[in-house]
Amino acid sequence: MHAKFTELTPALYAYLVAHNPPPDAVLRDLAAETAALGPISMMQVAPEQGVLLTFLARLLGARRAVEVGTFTGYSAISIARGLVPGGQLLCCDLSDEWASIARRYFTRAGLADRITLRVAPALETLRGLPRAPEIDLAFVDADKTGYRAYYDELLPRLRPGGVIGFDNVLWNGRVIDETDRSEDTVALRALNDFLVRDERVEVVMLPVSDGLTLARKR
Ligand SMILES: C[S@@+](CC[C@H](N)C(=O)[O-])C[C@H]1O[C@@H](n2cnc3c(N)ncnc32)[C@H](O)[C@@H]1O
Repeated sequence: MHAKFTELTPALYAYLVAHNPPPDAVLRDLAAETAALGPISMMQVAPEQGVLLTFLARLLGARRAVEVGTFTGYSAISIARGLVPGGQLLCCDLSDEWASIARRYFTRAGLADRITLRVAPALETLRGLPRAPEIDLAFVDADKTGYRAYYDELLPRLRPGGVIGFDNVLWNGRVIDETDRSEDTVALRALNDFLVRDERVEVVMLPVSDGLTLARKR
């Protein structure tokens, strides 16, 4: 196979980020407040992923979106900003602590009326949604062992042409380390193998940040 890719050095990555729309003051302050939480801040999506999520929501003309794994809200704000007027984003997270930060920034971004954040296991929240195919865009960025179950709940609720994004599908390269048998790695590997063969969707795996797969329902 012909390997054609450009390796991202830190300097080239900085160049890439500098040639994306810059985060506004709300996202900058949110990133700073999240960074002050310490190493856990690594969970936040990369800025170019935020840009991509807004872009995708606009591209799809998304009215209904769902996010699984909201943390302090960076990706949620990015998605909500791309929705059509009157659009709604349902966010799922387990943590009251992260939710309280996220809600503060949703309000500051003027998005409080567009985003509902449910603090509960995401699977419970998803199972409680109507089974009608109404969702235009979903973004999955929570516990890796849950991805497959989230997919199984989201797909029937996705409209044809709708898209589900899965973050961290390269898992820092661990997906190709056969000696890594950790639960998260095994789950991501199984999901990646399953998605590329699932005829109900078309997929593209992108080397964005830690790997992002987009699955479009046929
Ligand atoms: C990687 S972070 C999400 C980052 C977020 N997308 C952002 O841009 O900041 C993963 C989040 O998933 C949440 N989470 C983990 N397991 C969950 C579950 N079973 N149900 C709902 N949320 C869960 C965690 O509380 C955490 O906030």
